[in-house]
Amino acid sequence: MSLALLASLASLAASVAATRVPAVIGTSVSQAALTLTETEMFSHTVSEEGEWAYMNHFWAAGSPAVDRAIFRYYVDGEVNASVVFSPALACGVGWGDQTAPWGNRWMGKAANSTGWFHNIPVPFYKSIRITYQMALEDAGVAKAPGAGPRGGAVEQVGSRVWAIVRGSEGLPLHLGELEVPLRAGGVRLELQRRSAQLAPLDFYSVASAPAGQSGTVFLTSLFVRGTGSVKFMEGCWRMRSPPAQAWPGTLLASGMEDYYDSAFYFDGGGFHLPDTGATHLPGPTGSRDFTFSGYRFHEVDPLVFRDGIDVQWRNGDVTDPATGLKCTLQSGGVVAGPPDLVLGPSAVSSYAWVYTWPPGGAFLRRPSTVDPFLRARRGS
Ligand SMILES: *[C@@H]1O[C@H](CO)[C@@H](O)[C@H](O)[C@H]1NC(C)=O
Ligand SMILES: *[C@@H]1O[C@H](CO)[C@@H](O)[C@H](O)[C@H]1NC(C)=O
Repeated sequence: MSLALLASLASLAASVAATRVPAVIGTSVSQAALTLTETEMFSHTVSEEGEWAYMNHFWAAGSPAVDRAIFRYYVDGEVNASVVFSPALACGVGWGDQTAPWGNRWMGKAANSTGWFHNIPVPFYKSIRITYQMALEDAGVAKAPGAGPRGGAVEQVGSRVWAIVRGSEGLPLHLGELEVPLRAGGVRLELQRRSAQLAPLDFYSVASAPAGQSGTVFLTSLFVRGTGSVKFMEGCWRMRSPPAQAWPGTLLASGMEDYYDSAFYFDGGGFHLPDTGATHLPGPTGSRDFTFSGYRFHEVDPLVFRDGIDVQWRNGDVTDPATGLKCTLQSGGVVAGPPDLVLGPSAVSSYAWVYTWPPGGAFLRRPSTVDPFLRARRGS
């Protein structure tokens, strides 16, 4: 057999193998028991042809206990899952808000009660294992946080969950114009879940990655319970990359609501737009309800970093009396906002969906005129 023939047979074999990807993976469960026992819903090992895979669809419905159920994605044999969420908070909705229907390309809620979905990619190279479990407070085991960001607990006996998880092997991944370098290896999704009690003017890190790391902050969701008033909404958003970058870094937004592309303390009401959502707003004036939740995608405006990052929000903010400008001072200054409103402590929680990859991972633009699979096989 000639070398040329061998070579063409080898290339034929490669193209036959390549036709096996992309390939669909996933499953669905119907009225499965939702209990305190962590229950496996799906597991998958990446095939040789696939090289990598990512989950790209999640949906769950049932009783209110499903809103707060814990879903865990164990990536590549992790002992502790790196992606852990409850469905409502994953969709950027806090405080038990059931507003529906709404949705965008990445997430939404189409049923009157429960019925959450999101399409946020969870990449893996070896394997994935997905489980669900009832939240402790819904089983009456933990103290019911009647006022927590996940909403009031319901003691549920005989709860059921309906859920779908789906993904794909060997499919390139684009977040807007940003091509995530799956082919280069080492891409991970970190779902950073944080919470804190903030004094007035405290800074709060919503998303971070250490110096030396590359990646992109894809989505942030914030859940705030203010005290005293809505003056916490004066808080500016800032980004520093590397994290030790000198103040002020890049000012992302000159007020909390500005980050969500609204203004004037969300005086247009709540909304669920493709890139931004104010999914839960404080009650009417005089109600003493100062709860907020919202999401902000960075798909069109990716917060890419090559040397770590720190994205911060502040509980209220200050104006520099010398310039009249807000957001410019790290300390000192005059509390911003109407003088008749009190800036109090705030309880804050957040989810930040941060993709990371080893330094040197390429930032590729969408190859709009090139077959993406050919490009992936070339390893470019
Ligand atoms: C998993 O989490 C537990 C509890 O936080 C911790 O003690 C343990 O070290 C973690 N294991 C690994 C391998 O990260
Ligand atoms: C929608 O859900 C609310 C509770 O969130 C309930 O009061 C109402 O009856 C539901 N509507 C329908 C049509 O089921």
